[in-house]
Amino acid sequence: MLRVFRIQRFNPEREPNQWVDEYTLEVNEDDKILDILLKIRDEVDTTLGFRASCAHGVCGSDGMMIDGLNRLACQTFVGDIPGRKPINIAPLKGVPVEKDLIVDMDPLLDKVKSVNPWVVAKEHKAGERELLMSQEDFEKIEDMTKCIWCSCCTTSCPSLWSDSDYLGPQALVMAARFILDTRNEDAEKIIEKVGGLDGVFRCHTIGNCTDACPRDIDVTGAIAAVKKVLLQGIDNEDKFSNIVWEKGDEKEQQG
Ligand code: SF4
Ligand code: SF4
Ligand code: FES
Repeated sequence: MLRVFRIQRFNPEREPNQWVDEYTLEVNEDDKILDILLKIRDEVDTTLGFRASCAHGVCGSDGMMIDGLNRLACQTFVGDIPGRKPINIAPLKGVPVEKDLIVDMDPLLDKVKSVNPWVVAKEHKAGERELLMSQEDFEKIEDMTKCIWCSCCTTSCPSLWSDSDYLGPQALVMAARFILDTRNEDAEKIIEKVGGLDGVFRCHTIGNCTDACPRDIDVTGAIAAVKKVLLQGIDNEDKFSNIVWEKGDEKEQQG
């Protein structure tokens, strides 16, 4: 069948404003959008710019807006957008576009780095032994360990669109993951960061982030867990036992 692809383009060396190019191709329902982009770039228009690497939903590099929703091009099929209408493809929203579908990820990744997304184990000597955690403790953070840093959540967040200083859901998922990691002795640093002016209370629980996540992470649930830590504190012996949320508990209505 023939489908029309309307792709938002931008090339500051050629023209200061974005424009839309239309391509009509013979496609199948089970063709991935990434396959279509590769076909256009290889056979129709070699100037088309986009990022992709693994093609299997693992590297997180091909997040883009497809038919109005943030998705990974390699995990979205032509058949996911039924009917004969043109399929609109645009870069992620709320971040500077560098070229065509390529956005500047640095501001988003800087926000993630700013929450110290790693384990600090002060007494543990590198190479001494593995730093183990119990299966039960791992299950509390397992959902968040699936994050591939694609930024589909953060760039679908209206709070971030209106305030670019807001940390955003991607950084908050990482904050939750490393606050709740029972091996981390520096969780207080993360808590201090996410409790600041641009932190977790800028979230208005609209829920776009959870709907946008290609890994089905309960993003709003993770954010709710961070809020609970801030409201209840972690300075008690049993610090994590009363703050872990039931997955899906806090899922908000779509705004
Ligand atoms: S719940 Fe809404 S406001 Fe909060 S991070 Fe997600 S999209 Fe943004
Ligand atoms: S939480 Fe989901 S949408 Fe957000 S960066 Fe991680 S994988 Fe991507
Ligand atoms: S190309 Fe790696 S996630 Fe799509």
